[in-house]
This record gives sequence, structure tokens and C-alpha cells, in this order.
Amino acid sequence: MTISRRNLLGTAAAVAVAVKTARAQKPASAANGPLAISSANGIKAVAKAVDLMSRGADPLDAAIAGVNLVEDDPNDMTVGYGGVPNEEGIVQLDASCMHGPTARAGAVASLEGCKNPSKIAKLVMETTDHVLLVGPGARHFATMNGYPVENLLTEKARKVWLYWKQNLSDKDKWLEPDPDHLDPDVRAFIDEFGWDEFRKPQRGGTIHLSAVTPRGDIAGCTTTSGLFFKMPGRVGDSPIIGAGCFTDNDVGSAGSTGRGEANILVSGGHLAVEMMRQGKHPKDACIEVLKRIAATTRERRLLTKAGRPNFGITFYAVSKNREYGSASMYGLGDTGKPRRFAVADAAGARLEECAHLFERLELK
Ligand code: GLY
Repeated sequence: MTISRRNLLGTAAAVAVAVKTARAQKPASAANGPLAISSANGIKAVAKAVDLMSRGADPLDAAIAGVNLVEDDPNDMTVGYGGVPNEEGIVQLDASCMHGPTARAGAVASLEGCKNPSKIAKLVMETTDHVLLVGPGARHFATMNGYPVENLLTEKARKVWLYWKQNLSDKDKWLEPDPDHLDPDVRAFIDEFGWDEFRKPQRGGTIHLSAVTPRGDIAGCTTTSGLFFKMPGRVGDSPIIGAGCFTDNDVGSAGSTGRGEANILVSGGHLAVEMMRQGKHPKDACIEVLKRIAATTRERRLLTKAGRPNFGITFYAVSKNREYGSASMYGLGDTGKPRRFAVADAAGARLEECAHLFERLELK
């Protein structure tokens, strides 16, 4: 997950961003206040969640209100409205949530026409006997709950998708656009995500947010538009309880962004929480999950020449006593800058550096 200039500029007006080093990932000594941690695209989301919890909100209500800001933002092309569509040009969204105090969870996958899959995931949790609804069933459930079908494909996302199609092959009937006369929206997308990068199948984005209240009640939520140009019906880790999101009110909460397939194979969210149960600091719990992913990534197509995973994935975790941390497979993002996560507590909302398993992804 990279922090774009747009994200940073958009954020600066709302919250004071203080970048700290990984060494600063100490227990938040704003000891008894609420705390929220998320991927870096969630700095406004963690601020919102903490604000709500400081006024008595339930941690899941706070988490969902936080991520809704990102789902509603057409400029975040990795989540909700404006998300990059699948290979057919259709935006399909995944989300899950888990409520520590009641030990319940809900999720939706491949949901179309609804900006806020996190809200539908919570409705699955609260109003059904199920945990996960998918595809047309999830859509029908959203409609029954008063969420009309909305167009989620923004003009920018549509142009980017068309550009991807035009560039897919030099053996089809599409002609590649003149690189010197690219549409400004396509140019802006390439500047943010990189052309070579976003053509890789693992490229995408997500927001995970975990929250803990002053009473030590915990919740988590993860929401995403998934991999860019994914196969229709492809589901990543975000709506999989125990992978993209897991919360245990006695221990803590964890979630992830990045290559979902790798996370599903190790049940990373659950594993991080189990590591914390064994006494590991949240940052170290995240590192343990990354080690497990590195050890179980064995297919050559997924490995660098050095035998390391050739994809990015990041975990975020918070414990019941408000220790928090995040770790990424690679410490440096695509732009060469350190990867960061967002955290908010009584000291305000800020970005801090993720710990990492490896420093830099070297594909060659
Ligand atoms: N982690 C998001 C996804 O793989 O869809």
C-alpha cells in the first residue's frame, strides 16, 4: 500500500499527520482512551473511529463509520465507490466485520451496486443466522435492506479499465492509445499506481480498521474493491473471517491489505490474534504471519529470484490493552518510500512506519 500525494494532501487539512519510526511502535500510553489502527489510506477513518468511541460509540459502529469515509471517496480507487472494476468493467466489492463483545461476524463478497459493503456485512451479522453472503444473494439482501442499486463505476475508473483492455494484447482488435496523448485521468492513475505495477494480478488495495474502546471492547472491519481487473467472482481475503479480519474480545483484533490469496492460505488475521494470545506484541504477531506466508509461498510464479514472495501484503493488529503495530512483507513501497499505517488515539491521528520482514521487493 503506498500513500499517494493525493491522500496526503487530502488528509493534511483534516488531521495533523506525524510520521514516526517503527521504533516508536510502543504501547499507546494514552492508556485508557480509545484507539484505532488502519492501513495508511484510513487516516481520516481512524480519526473518525476514535472520535466516535471517545463519545461512547460501540467499537464496530465506530470502525464502520470510519471505513465508510473511504468507501464513499471516489478518489480512493481501491475501496467502495470509484474502485477499480473487474475484467468485465463491473465493480464487485468485498467486506467483513467482527464484533468482539458479542463474538459475531458478518461479511459480503462480490457485492455489486452498493458503495458501503461494510454496512451490508454488519447487517448480515446483526439480522441473519449467517456470516457470509455472496454475489446476487448479497445484492438481493442489500436491496431488501433499502440499499438501491447504485452505479459504482466512476468515469475515471471506467477510463482506466478501458485503457487496461486496450493494452491487454497486441493480438486483439484494440489499438493501444498513444502514450503521448493519454487521457488525464488515465495518466493520473498511472502516476499513482504505476503502469507495470498495476498490470500485475496481485495489484489492488483495501482498508482494514481495528478499534478498541476505553473499556477494552474490540472490533474490526475490512473493505475492498479487490484486485484490479480481477476475474468476475474472485474473492480475496477481506470478507473471509479469520483471514482479512479477525477479532477476539479477550485478546485483540487484526486484519490485512495486499495479496488476499496468500493470506487466505494461512488464515492470517486469526493467526495474528493467536500470536497475541501467546503474548506477542501486535507488531511481532504481524511479523510471524508474514514469516508463515513467506514459508508457505512455494510456487515459482510467486517468488523472486531470491526465493521471496513477489507480492506485497501488510498486517495491522491491536491488543486489548491497546498495544498496536503493523508489519509489511516489504518495508519500502513501490515509490521507494517506507510503508506506513494509520493510528489514532488520544494523541491524535498519525502515520507510522510499518515494521517489515524484508526491506525491498527486488523482482530482478
Ligand atoms: N486484500 C484484498 C484482496 O486481496 O482482495
